[in-house]
Amino acid sequence: MKKTIKDFELDNKKVIIRCDFNVPIQNGKIIDDSRIKESLETINYAIHQNAKVILLSHLGRIKKKEDLEKNSLVMVANRLEELLKKPVLFVPKTRGEEVENAIANMQRQDVILLENTRFEDFNEKKESTNNEELGKYWASLGDIFINDAFGTIHRAHASNVGIASYLPNGIGFLVEKELNALSQLDTPTRPYIVILGGAKVSDKLGVIQHLVTKADKIMIGGAMAFTFLKAQELEVGKSLVEDEFIPFCKELLNQYPDKIILPLDVVVSQNIDASSPSWNKLVAEIEPNEIGLDLGGKTICLFKEILNKAGTVVWNGPLGYYEINQYQTSTKEILKYLTENHINTILGGGDIVAASSELGFKDKVSHASTGGGATLEYLEGKKLPGLEIIEEKK
Ligand code: 3PG
Repeated sequence: MKKTIKDFELDNKKVIIRCDFNVPIQNGKIIDDSRIKESLETINYAIHQNAKVILLSHLGRIKKKEDLEKNSLVMVANRLEELLKKPVLFVPKTRGEEVENAIANMQRQDVILLENTRFEDFNEKKESTNNEELGKYWASLGDIFINDAFGTIHRAHASNVGIASYLPNGIGFLVEKELNALSQLDTPTRPYIVILGGAKVSDKLGVIQHLVTKADKIMIGGAMAFTFLKAQELEVGKSLVEDEFIPFCKELLNQYPDKIILPLDVVVSQNIDASSPSWNKLVAEIEPNEIGLDLGGKTICLFKEILNKAGTVVWNGPLGYYEINQYQTSTKEILKYLTENHINTILGGGDIVAASSELGFKDKVSHASTGGGATLEYLEGKKLPGLEIIEEKK
């Protein structure tokens, strides 16, 4: 068991909390503040324990100069102030005198947020390469390090693994909650059903290979289903197919013929836009000029029938071309079925969680993970460097 924030005496201590404030921003506005809200429990706990709270996070990826301006955490600091209902001092620097003075002046219960840790990537990729000097420097600013950034727990960066190498450390409540939910999948209540969607088989290779040996059924939707259907020598028209992964799909279908569940029918159109007409087709009847964009009614019924008996469900990736409303039906129907029937469901990965939020089901599922890549790597059975470095409870 990993140490948690509760294992430390925090009074008057400078506690560095690594959060994942990597929130979507459009036209200078935060369009989904869930990740900030999910961080509040740990931050509030540290405040109530009279700590001096120093927050770190990344935002976006910093490759060129223009990225600096649009990825400042100043907007996050403002939103955090509203949510915490107390001042948050934003220091627009990642190191140096301004940072050090701000920390030296902190009183118990003060909160400061430093600038985007990935601004250091503009400096020889120091954050993302876990530069030793940078990790050591950030660690020198605090007494205790708490990693509560589940979304980056699969990264070995200076602001998580680096700092943890030089300070007493533990995890925050969000990381603890995510691990509790995901670790159910190590010994799942059966039948254990996996739903996989999204565009590409290539994005999910590791997950499929790992889960196919553990799950009782894997139901495939999204555009990735068409690479599997083509592997069965079906005409899939203009649907998205990754030809180089057809042999992989063929092999999997041969090895696990009863485990992998493919669509029976799909919704097709001749174009990917909201105004072109669409219609339902059995998968064996797709024409060369048609594109599959959602699962059809028969498939939705089949999926519900299988889910009806499920003990545990894990779901990654939307089932249709979710960006266009008319192709949200299968994703919506299955979310509705799972929540109305209180089926133990974990949503893992950015797109399905965003879809569940937009469709109003996020708060009704058993667990919606805040991690995208992190959750996928967990599902692949990989070790997570940001967690590995954390001390074990004695
Ligand atoms: C995420 O959004 O999945 C996390 O914040 C990690 O971001 P990254 O993929 O840029 O490291």
